[in-house]
Amino acid sequence: MLGGDVGLELGLRVANALKAALDVEITPVEALIRPSAPGRGADYQCNVAMSLAKRLGRPPRDVATAIVDHLDAADVVEPPEVAGPGFVNFTLRREWLQEQTARLLGDERLGVPTAPADRTRPKRYAIDYGSPNVAKEMHVGHLRSSIIGDAVVRLLEFAGHEVIRHNHLGDWGTPFGMLIEHMVDQGWTAADHTISDLNGFYQQARKKFDADPEFADRARRRVVALQSGDETTLALWRGLVEESERHFAAVYELLGVKLTADDYYGESFYNPFLADVVQELEAKGLTSVSDGAVCVFPPGFTNREGEPLPLIVRKSDGGYGYASTDLATVRYWTRERGATDLLYVVGTPQAQHFRMVFATAHAAGWLGDEHRAVHIGFGSILGEDGKVLRTRAGGSVKLVDLLREAVDRSTAVMAERSKLDSARQEAVSRAVGIGAVKYADLSNDREKDYVFAWDRMLAMEGNTSVYLQYANARALSVVARVGREAEPGTPVALAEAAERALAVKILQLPAALTTATEEYAPHKLCTHLYETAVAFSAFWENCPIAKAPDERTRMSRLVLAQLTSRVLVLGLALLGIEAPDQL
Ligand code: ARG
Repeated sequence: MLGGDVGLELGLRVANALKAALDVEITPVEALIRPSAPGRGADYQCNVAMSLAKRLGRPPRDVATAIVDHLDAADVVEPPEVAGPGFVNFTLRREWLQEQTARLLGDERLGVPTAPADRTRPKRYAIDYGSPNVAKEMHVGHLRSSIIGDAVVRLLEFAGHEVIRHNHLGDWGTPFGMLIEHMVDQGWTAADHTISDLNGFYQQARKKFDADPEFADRARRRVVALQSGDETTLALWRGLVEESERHFAAVYELLGVKLTADDYYGESFYNPFLADVVQELEAKGLTSVSDGAVCVFPPGFTNREGEPLPLIVRKSDGGYGYASTDLATVRYWTRERGATDLLYVVGTPQAQHFRMVFATAHAAGWLGDEHRAVHIGFGSILGEDGKVLRTRAGGSVKLVDLLREAVDRSTAVMAERSKLDSARQEAVSRAVGIGAVKYADLSNDREKDYVFAWDRMLAMEGNTSVYLQYANARALSVVARVGREAEPGTPVALAEAAERALAVKILQLPAALTTATEEYAPHKLCTHLYETAVAFSAFWENCPIAKAPDERTRMSRLVLAQLTSRVLVLGLALLGIEAPDQL
């Protein structure tokens, strides 16, 4: 089968038929094969006749009929039918389905191809995600970046790409003047200091800065000292950064994301390159001076009044800001690190910033035709009142608090249901609680806002992680009940409708994964996993496994249960969610 993907295999057959019938050349992807809507009586539908009709100057039904007449696919599908304005409906042959399903048991990747196996030019992704700010507690806004970014990393790695993570820590800039002065006032020595409340520390410094002109003055001088590389100042700054990194590491650990200490490429990392970046922009004639600031005006960006929008690359006081750093980031990753694809998992409010940075980087030659830069944006998390999530007191919600609450809540839910001993139950509650938070985020189209609702995300029914985790635990329980696993090579017989429907779903994993990966759309994988679990439930209710009427049926059904478990475990792992054996 073509790359383990049923749709592509059918696409190849349709492409061959079009070549034979009408001498038209298309690729298997262009054959537009889609899974049919449930209850349509077919498994797949081909939509290519409609799109080709115009080009060929023939009615779509004629094109569809030509495809059907010249199709060489009797091994895969029943004789197909033309439907409606010119669809071709395909029903997979039972024997073929049985063979393909049986074959999967021996395939570690469950039919999912390694995309770049035959690439001539390898891809190297550099992905910016997480990206919290020093001396500030991570808040839920950073939650989405960490969760979505991590799923994207896992999907790309599974597809065989090289992926480099970089955590664009906000660890540089004017606020550090006041933060460091506040450290000095508190008699900070790196050895014996910890900050238990980073937000509080930041707020105290801010308050002093606003109220005390003498302090504000010191803070401003401290910024200059920091930027000119004064050793004492740098040591204090490092102490503060390390303190924050410890906080972040704890959250990443609890969250189970891949970000580590090696992945920090904070804003300060790019500091040595900034002057040169601006010089290069100036030398290329891309800059102009506006109110004393060096700016780039990338074409096509205007404000509401229609005036061109600047990307400020050097402020009038000679300092550099967020935009200069991001330009240096692009230049560094493409030029120094050979990245082909730059991904930024950052909230949608920064969309215009990234469009302007990319446009400028193109103009400067740091992004060429061989590169792709993508802003993977995402919406906000809303409270149940439909407004941006806040604590009862109105403050911004801290990430650690939220994750601890998730584990507490799932502990309460699981305590009523689970018969596990307490050590196991603790691990399971963590997997369920953290999984629920991550899955609630990932199962929504990332571009949209979503409502954070504990009851919904921890529900046993519906598109939740715990529903998938239960389905997996059930599927595994039957292996224990039968007393052994089905071996690769075990024949599969799909006699019942529920068996057949489950097998079709299992064979659709490669297509779902490819789409989720290419579109950076984890929710499409979630939808597929949920549909697989629903198909498994119907199978579970209608088709006894351990008590099957005969040994052949028992083992065939066991294959389906094992495959279901493997699909769910793999899918959840790619979302960064654990799938415990028992719940
Ligand atoms: N630290 C920034 C924030 O909290 C996000 C940084 C995103 N990455 C970037 N390259 N600009 O908003």
